Amino acid sequence: MNRCISLFLVIILISACTVKSPKQVIVNAEKSGITADSGMVVSANLLSSLVGIKILQKGGNAIDAAVATEFALAVCFPEAGNIGGGGFMVIRTNDGKSDVIDYREKAPLLASRNMFLDKSGNVKVGLSTGTHLASGVPGTVDGLITAHSRYGKLSFKDVIQPSIDLAENGFILTREQAEDFNSNRSKFVARNSGKTAFVKDSLWKEGEIMIQKDLSETLKRIRDYGRDGFYSGRTAHLLLREMKKGNGIMSERDLSEYKSVLRVPLYSDYKGYKIITVPPPSSGGIILLQLLGMVEPFPIREWGFNSIQTIHLMVEAERRAFADRSEFMGDPESMIVTVNQLVNKKYLINRMSNYNKNEATPSSQTTHGYPEQHESEETTHYSVVDSKGNAVSVTTTLNDTFGNSIVVDSAGFLLNNQMDDFSVKPGVPNMYGLVGGDVNSIQPGKKMLSSMTPAIVEKDGKLFLVVGSPGGSTIPTSVFQVIVNVLDFGMSLEEAVDAARFHHQWLPELVYFEKNRIDSLAYQKLTNMGYELKVRSSIGRVNAIMLLPDGKKVSGADKRGNNSACGY
Ligand code: GLY
Repeated sequence: MNRCISLFLVIILISACTVKSPKQVIVNAEKSGITADSGMVVSANLLSSLVGIKILQKGGNAIDAAVATEFALAVCFPEAGNIGGGGFMVIRTNDGKSDVIDYREKAPLLASRNMFLDKSGNVKVGLSTGTHLASGVPGTVDGLITAHSRYGKLSFKDVIQPSIDLAENGFILTREQAEDFNSNRSKFVARNSGKTAFVKDSLWKEGEIMIQKDLSETLKRIRDYGRDGFYSGRTAHLLLREMKKGNGIMSERDLSEYKSVLRVPLYSDYKGYKIITVPPPSSGGIILLQLLGMVEPFPIREWGFNSIQTIHLMVEAERRAFADRSEFMGDPESMIVTVNQLVNKKYLINRMSNYNKNEATPSSQTTHGYPEQHESEETTHYSVVDSKGNAVSVTTTLNDTFGNSIVVDSAGFLLNNQMDDFSVKPGVPNMYGLVGGDVNSIQPGKKMLSSMTPAIVEKDGKLFLVVGSPGGSTIPTSVFQVIVNVLDFGMSLEEAVDAARFHHQWLPELVYFEKNRIDSLAYQKLTNMGYELKVRSSIGRVNAIMLLPDGKKVSGADKRGNNSACGY
């Protein structure tokens, strides 16, 4: 592990951020939780968390730090950090007001319902994931500029400059990152005719420096021209040229018309705590509130963490929430999503009326097959709290690891493959095995349904928890389980994040468990109840911050990844 070298490099690279009264930055170098008095950033990448902290120390607020962190993730964690993808941001300011910025990608205007099907109506394998057609119109740059212009304190130049420096001067690769780039090498080579910063003559090794000159030039254009530096001018020209080269359909109009949307957050309460999360076009917020509402009437505190009763109840709630996802959830701009009805407490109690405490309730029978278990970083989540109590919870993604692996020639950024989040053929599972219905079919300009679930929890009207996760369809179940671990089982945040997780999504009819984290007796009992269990390496990678009664912040950086908490 090369953390010392990385830290050294960070100090050099971001020394441009002159701090008026320097305070020591605390880093979770040993991967255990940290406690900080003032501000905290928890993200999937150490350098990006440090960029955020430096912005806080420079006098920026949580929104400045979030925007800076997200641009840094686009440079130092291109597996999922991005400017060619999209995301959702939940903001809660210290006066108790909250806001959601939806910067989810959109289908290009030339997209059509059957664009990923062959003449016989079958899905053309790989078309919605590994080609130029797989990309939705990127939303991240507009989303970050919107967040900054509404809430930021520092200049935009201040928040983006550290990322320009990291792209231009390079950053040191961790062992895991070197492996990520090497294992994706053949895709980068096959899908890019030009040179990319991600491929060199030999394989990457831990400790080598990755420099991204083209990306730094793109970031400079965004710094100098704002959204026009991305959605028009040279960057747009390069993106459209890339599309033309790969038979993509994104147009000048798609780019110029893209606008992120301010949405009213979804709210509900759970045992006296207020939950603030995202509405559609993410399904994640509704699913989270449904799961909490479905388990609330049951005495899970008495049953205990990971008892058979608790797992059985939570799995049955997950089954029902994901069945609703398939039937009722899609882009609110192309359909009516009955959000209030779906999270209504009476509805949720009724939804559990056929819950049998002794055995699994089978999902509807289906005839389709299921794809291979997909294991990757996918999406990424980061959480920020500043010294004044402003909080930001953001999940952002290219969809698959490195998106579609296509780098926009001479612009240096990766494109998303978010079109696969539509039901490319209603009834056929996507890369997460999610089966969608007509409500999530492709239409020009429509947003594909997401599972991203950035959330904020209040206790007695005060900020209590900032939480979220990557993991495709496992995002809402991971966030749900961490919240319940803290609120019901009284775990510390670190314990709650590290605790074993499980996942059920209605179809396929399987309960996923993390490897080596269920004992054989529990396995046998659940099998006897009618569950089919399947092991996977990990579920979710939560990055969370909790506030203690004295205002101190504690971190929950998931040990499942290279997640890094920094505070001061
Ligand atoms: N692409 C993962 C999600 O939005 O749920």
